[in-house]
Amino acid sequence: MATSGKLLINMEAIKNASVEDKLLLQEYMKIEKYYRYALKEMTARLENLDDYCDYAFAHNPIHHIEARIKTLDNILEKIHRRGHPPTMETIKNNIYDIAGIRVICNYINDIYQMIGLLSKQKDIKVRLTKDYILKPKDTGYRSVHIVFDMEIYMKETVIIPVEIQFRTIAMDMWASLEHELRYKSNNEFSESDKANLKKYSDDLYNVDLCMQKMYIQKTTGDKDDD
Ligand code: GTP
Ligand code: MG
Repeated sequence: MATSGKLLINMEAIKNASVEDKLLLQEYMKIEKYYRYALKEMTARLENLDDYCDYAFAHNPIHHIEARIKTLDNILEKIHRRGHPPTMETIKNNIYDIAGIRVICNYINDIYQMIGLLSKQKDIKVRLTKDYILKPKDTGYRSVHIVFDMEIYMKETVIIPVEIQFRTIAMDMWASLEHELRYKSNNEFSESDKANLKKYSDDLYNVDLCMQKMYIQKTTGDKDDD
């Protein structure tokens, strides 16, 4: 995922769009920049927290960050999938991942530490949390998804939702490859493929736990070399 400075729209589709769609696009272009401000602001806060942890605990919790603005096409596809009419109101009230950030952490504990530190900030409020580490999806998918409502200060203060997906490097590896395999299989996995993918996710989770344990041992000076 990359953050583009430009509005992500398909020019060909605009030419052929109905009057209603063109009006919606005009309205959307007015508010899209607020999602961009929120994306930049949240990314900066995450980077500062990572830097702070390096200073305070000699450890960087974040491996890397990816950020993107959802394309209007994808917003409209999601609105349609959820059975809402395509209006600015339904977009604002139902789509919380227009500004989307993926925070890839080194260890599982880093995820919860980042969430804790971010949640303490006064102008950021948790709107909803889905903890797929505590309760993984049947596919084997693990991550913590949190929608934060963030205050953005311009002429007026506006509250913009930003979705952050927190995961470890191992969880990110699984999700990326599973996504690619899903695409290559036209969304149809055989039962044995499903079982294998679930098993690989569990195996990677065990590796995450072992790496976490080793990190704690090394940093607290506990000796456990066998
Ligand atoms: P949508 O965002 O519309 O899909 O609905 P939702 O937010 O209710 O669903 P969910 O909480 O499952 O989050 C969806 C996002 O999580 C997807 O866009 C993926 O990034 C990720 N995701 C969820 N399940 C899986 C999975 O089984 N495999 C992979 N690779 N990614 C998943
Ligand atoms: Mg989502």
